[in-house]
Formats: sequence, structure tokens, C-alpha cells
Amino acid sequence: MRRIGLAVAAAVLLILVSGAALVLFGPFREGPAGVVRTFLGGGERSPAGGAHGWTAAERGLIASLSIDQLPPLAPDPSNAVGDDPAAVAFGHALFFDSGLSPDGTVSCSSCHVPELYFTDGKVRANVRGADTPRHTPTIVGIGYSDWYYWDGRKDSQWAQALAPQEAAIEHGGNRVAHTLYVLDNYRSQYEALFVRAPDLSDETRFPLNAAPVEDALLRAAWDEMTEADQNTVNHVFADIGKSIAAYSRRILPGRSRFDDYAAAAIANDQGRMGEIFSAEEAAGLRLFIGDGQCTDCHNGPLFTNGTFHNIGLPLPEGSSFDQGRSLGTLKVVDDAFNCLGAFSDAGEEDCVELRFIKMAGDELVGAFKVPGLRNVGNTAPYMHNGIFPDLDAVIRHYNHAPPAFPGHSDLVPLALTVEQSDALKAFLLTLSAAPDAPPELLQAPERGE
Ligand code: HEC
Ligand code: HEC
Repeated sequence: MRRIGLAVAAAVLLILVSGAALVLFGPFREGPAGVVRTFLGGGERSPAGGAHGWTAAERGLIASLSIDQLPPLAPDPSNAVGDDPAAVAFGHALFFDSGLSPDGTVSCSSCHVPELYFTDGKVRANVRGADTPRHTPTIVGIGYSDWYYWDGRKDSQWAQALAPQEAAIEHGGNRVAHTLYVLDNYRSQYEALFVRAPDLSDETRFPLNAAPVEDALLRAAWDEMTEADQNTVNHVFADIGKSIAAYSRRILPGRSRFDDYAAAAIANDQGRMGEIFSAEEAAGLRLFIGDGQCTDCHNGPLFTNGTFHNIGLPLPEGSSFDQGRSLGTLKVVDDAFNCLGAFSDAGEEDCVELRFIKMAGDELVGAFKVPGLRNVGNTAPYMHNGIFPDLDAVIRHYNHAPPAFPGHSDLVPLALTVEQSDALKAFLLTLSAAPDAPPELLQAPERGE
């Protein structure tokens, strides 16, 4: 995120400088008499005004949201195979393999459905007759995150990929069973990447089902194992996560209509802007970067600042208060699979986010990760608890911004008119584009790949 921040700052600076040059030397000089312009763009419009007239400062902000500002995905130092094509192919197979569940019914793709931008369209995920506590987020472009899950309780994509496998109402499996399954079914792929494929055939040492989870039987079986044998299993389990992450890192956001508009705005080509966006969509963008204050949190080319905020959402009926980030911090520092842990490939110096994590503070209570907004028109319902069925409901919430309880809401009520709310929604719908990934990665692999 920091690297994106830098790129964004550079883009804003570039635009501001070229904008200022335009003000001094360019067509702005011909503007209508009596228009007062502040140097870095106050509320002034370009001479043409109208739907697509933007100040230099506004064009800088628009540029900072463009996908052209998205840097190539940096390597994940905690995952040595993160960019290895063999790991991508292996992880691709694992992502779609329902063998990673005891009854052969659930894979990652059960909830992260490629056709639904890797979401599931449900209020809260449900594959075993019971709702999970939270709504399924997209994983398109998620490799850019510093933190994973709505509460950021994981600090890498590979560590994240381990948890659903052992969650009783998700895959419902356990690490010994999945390790055995993978070594049985993918031994050559595994050995090509990780060399060591340990011998787990002694059932007195490696019970068929065991994991340090809530389930008493699984935990008892795990506690019976020696620490060395537990480590052996944990290593392979971590390798499974690293391979899955290598695959899902490759699913990147595509170029949306907004990005074409941004390019036209940077060039200040009003004709072109008018071809790409309707006046309503442009008005929505104006609200998004202006009076709507959306870019306070949804900024940069992925439309997220990567941090956590409490926005005072209503609780779903029958559910209790969700602490969000204030528990996520405790969980991530305690996670055996975090960046500083024994199964990470990173050096301590690589784990800056974790080492300098903000652990406590009122603002973390009931705070959740700011989701990116690319493809948001295709990923309803919305929010960590899936409370809003559509974008109209989301915008109504921003208009009212009720106080949070407990915790503090970081929102101020916007009280937009109906026209403004519709415009904002029209703009959000311009952020969709097919994911940028080789087409074969957007579906289950051919058998034997
Ligand atoms: C039962 C449905 C379900 C299955 C199966 C599932 N997930 Fe998820 N996934 C979710 C939900 C729900 C969340 C959000 C949970 C939370 O934040 O507490 C999530 C979150 C994530 C995130 C974090 C996204 C973010 O914004 O931080 C990633 C990455 C992810 N899942 C990948 C996977 C992978 C890889 C697998 C397979 C190993 C998988 N998921 C299996 C439902 C599922
Ligand atoms: C103070 C920071 C902040 C501001 C300002 C803000 N948002 Fe958000 N937004 C968030 C957070 C945090 C979430 C997720 C909240 C949760 O699930 O608990 C979110 C969620 C969303 C979602 C749902 C996305 C999804 O995939 O579920 C949409 C849409 C959205 N915001 C649009 C907007 C718009 C439009 C504006 C401006 C009117 C705006 N936001 C202003 C922080 C902010």
C-alpha cells in the first residue's frame, strides 16, 4: 500500500505541476474574466465548465484513482514461491479442488466464484447450512493488501488461505487430512516446488485427522503428536497455502470505463471525456472525489486506503456486536503462520507491517477493512455483514450516517439529493471490468494440468 501511496503522490504532483503550467501558459489564460483561480485549484472549473470541466487538482485526484497508477504487484517476501509459474498451476488446481473438504463438496471456488468476480452473491457465506459470521469479499486484486479478512486477522494471502480449510462451516477439513490428501494426489507437483515431501504413513504418529482447532477430538489428536511431527505437517500445510496464494495473486483488476475516462481527464480532452461518461456519471465522480468525501477512505487505484474504519453499520437481526479490527490485531500477532513465524520465508526486516501494527485504540472497535470498489456494481450484497442488498442502500447509509454503537463512526451524514445519490451510483457502476488474468485461470483447470 505504501508503494501505491507513493505512486499516487507522484501522479498527483505531476498533474498539479502540469495543471499549474497550463494555468500559467496554457488555454486557462483565455478563461472568462473575473474568475479567481487559486494556484493549486480551488473550486474553479476549466473554461469550458460543464460536466467534464475539471480543475488541475481534481484531475490530479482522478489520475490517482486510475488503474494506470497501479504498480506491478511486488513479491511477497513471506512466500518464496509466490511468483513461481509451477506454484500458480498447482495453486490453481487446489483452489478448485473440493477434495480439500471431508465430504468432497467445498473448494475455495464454492464461495469465490469466478463468474461473480470471486464472490458468492450471498448475504453471508453459507455452504453447510449455516451462515458464516461474515460476507464473502472479492479476491480480485487482493494481493496488494497488507491485511486479509474484514478484520485483518491474517497478514499474508498464504496464511489466509489456510484458515477456511479448517473452519467447520467452510471446508470443514483439518491440516493433517489436507496434507495427506495433497501428498497423495499432487506429490510430483509438490516435490517439484518444495523438495521435501515427508513420509506421513505412520498413523500412530500422524493420525488421519488432527488440528489445533476448537473441535475437541481434532485438538486431542493434534496434542498427542510430537512437536516435530506437528511442524512437519505445518510446513506442508503452509506450502499448500503458498501455492494457493501464488494462483490467486494472479487475479488482477481489469481496465474499466472509469480508467479510460481518467486518461481523457488527464489529457483534459473534454470531447473524449464526453464520449466515455454521461453527464450523470461525471457528476457522480465529482461527488465521489468532492462533497461525498469518499476518497478519504476509498483512494488510490484500488479505491481503498488499506486501513480499518468503523462506519456505524446496522447489526443483522439476531447477531451480536462484531469487534472487527480490535480483535483482528490480537489474532494476527498470535498467528503461527504470520510473517514473523517459523513457516514464513521472510526475514524480520520484511515484516514491517506486523512489527509496527497499531494494536489498540478506540478507532479499532467495530472497524473493518476499507474494501476496494472496483467491480462493486457486480458484487452485491455489501459490507462485512452483507447488510445492504444494493448500492442504493449503501448510499442511503452514507446519507444518514447514524452514530455507531459501540465505537465511533468515522462518517458524517452527506444528505445528498436523490439526483446526487443516483449520480454517485452511476459512477460506481463504471468501475467494473473483467478481471485481468489469463482466461484459463478464471475457470477450473483442465484435469491433469
Ligand atoms: C464458505 C465460503 C468460503 C470458502 C469455502 C472460502 N472462503 Fe474465502 N472468504 C469467505 C468469507 C466469508 C470471507 C470473509 C471472512 C472474514 O473476513 O471474517 C473470506 C475472505 C477471504 C479472503 C480475504 C479477502 C480480503 O478482502 O481480505 C481471501 C483472500 C479468501 N477468502 C480466499 C479464500 C481461499 C484461498 C479459499 C480456499 C482455501 C477460501 N477463501 C475459501 C468465504 C469463503
Ligand atoms: C471513513 C472511511 C470511509 C468513507 C469516507 C467512505 N467509506 Fe465506503 N467503506 C468504508 C468501510 C470501512 C467499508 C466497509 C465497512 C464494513 O463492512 O464494516 C466501506 C464499504 C463501502 C462499500 C461496500 C463495498 C463492498 O464490497 O461491500 C461501498 C459501495 C462504499 N463503501 C462506497 C462509498 C462511497 C460511495 C463513499 C462516499 C459517499 C464512501 N464509501 C465513503 C469506509 C469509508
